[in-house]
Amino acid sequence: MTDIVHVPLAGREYDIHVGPGLLRRAGALVGPLLSRPRVAIVTDDRVAGLHLKSLRQGLEAAGISSTCLTLPAGEATKSWPYFERTVDWLLTERIERRDVVVALGGGVIGDLAGFAASVLRRGVRFVQVPTSLLAQVDSSVGGKTGINAARGKNLIGAFHQPSLVLADTDVLSTLPQRDFLAGYGEVVKYGLLGDEEFFQWLEANASSMLAGDEAVRIAAVKRSVEMKAEIVARDETEQGDRALLNLGHTFCHALEAATGYSSRLLHGEGVAIGCALAFDLSARLGLCAREEPSRVRAHLAGMGMKVDLADIGGDLPDAEGLLRLMAQDKKVIDGRLRFVLARGIGRAFVAEDVAPDAVRAVLRDALAARG
Ligand code: GLY
Repeated sequence: MTDIVHVPLAGREYDIHVGPGLLRRAGALVGPLLSRPRVAIVTDDRVAGLHLKSLRQGLEAAGISSTCLTLPAGEATKSWPYFERTVDWLLTERIERRDVVVALGGGVIGDLAGFAASVLRRGVRFVQVPTSLLAQVDSSVGGKTGINAARGKNLIGAFHQPSLVLADTDVLSTLPQRDFLAGYGEVVKYGLLGDEEFFQWLEANASSMLAGDEAVRIAAVKRSVEMKAEIVARDETEQGDRALLNLGHTFCHALEAATGYSSRLLHGEGVAIGCALAFDLSARLGLCAREEPSRVRAHLAGMGMKVDLADIGGDLPDAEGLLRLMAQDKKVIDGRLRFVLARGIGRAFVAEDVAPDAVRAVLRDALAARG
């Protein structure tokens, strides 16, 4: 019961497999890409304990040997020192131009290993084996790779498309509930940005996805990657439509910076709150009905997710402070605030030059509701 979503980028096309048991079948799926039966796996110490053995067995079943680098789990690994270590390890392991690097992990490992593959010998191919819901529906697809800089997240990197993505839905059952829900923030984003019918389906089915319903999980991951694949095929390097994938992210990045990129707020939690605020801003600007932000919040709250600034523990800057953090976002062009706004659920668009006063007012209201 595996679904395949194709990413039709001319010369760089690839398949995303979605379904159970893919780690076990990794050898059969990766094998056709190889010029010799050996791969280099990059993973982290949390994922390694859970899934490395299955992946290696899956590769060995097709006669593929593997060598593995296990890095510490966590965002701090997405940095120059671990990037250097990864590239150096790949060279030590004599990974050649025609070899394949396998990224086994969440967004941190996928971004780091993908970036290392993009520069190694001027570019070797890599396979994404995403193990978090967030990585399955977002970061493993579309070729954004990179590391964080002292000046901000994801400021160093390259577009380097994977050659294959194996989204094994079995691995989702090992995720802590908080991580699962954070990844769900990105799933719901797809419905909100471009597919009201999918959002409606999520309203009806997402709680069984949380409870472990496999068919619902597969369907949700599949629809998410289909939407991502369509958008990436239209606009690989984010000159236009790809920015729609940043719905909720301008608010989210400011909140992540305000909370020090700590466990106070996971990225997907910030995306969910950011989506609710983007709908608040859209309603305030008269772009969508006043009921829309409430509908978004009702669904997120029903899933047991963070939906408001009140759900973030500890101090937050005032509206002015949050606006300043937004002004440092990558998506600010010539000092103008650029947001993804919506004319309704499923009808997002990129708005240039949004009036700071409207954003300030949304933030003030949201902060006031914290009490
Ligand atoms: N995560 C947003 C993108 O891939 O463009």
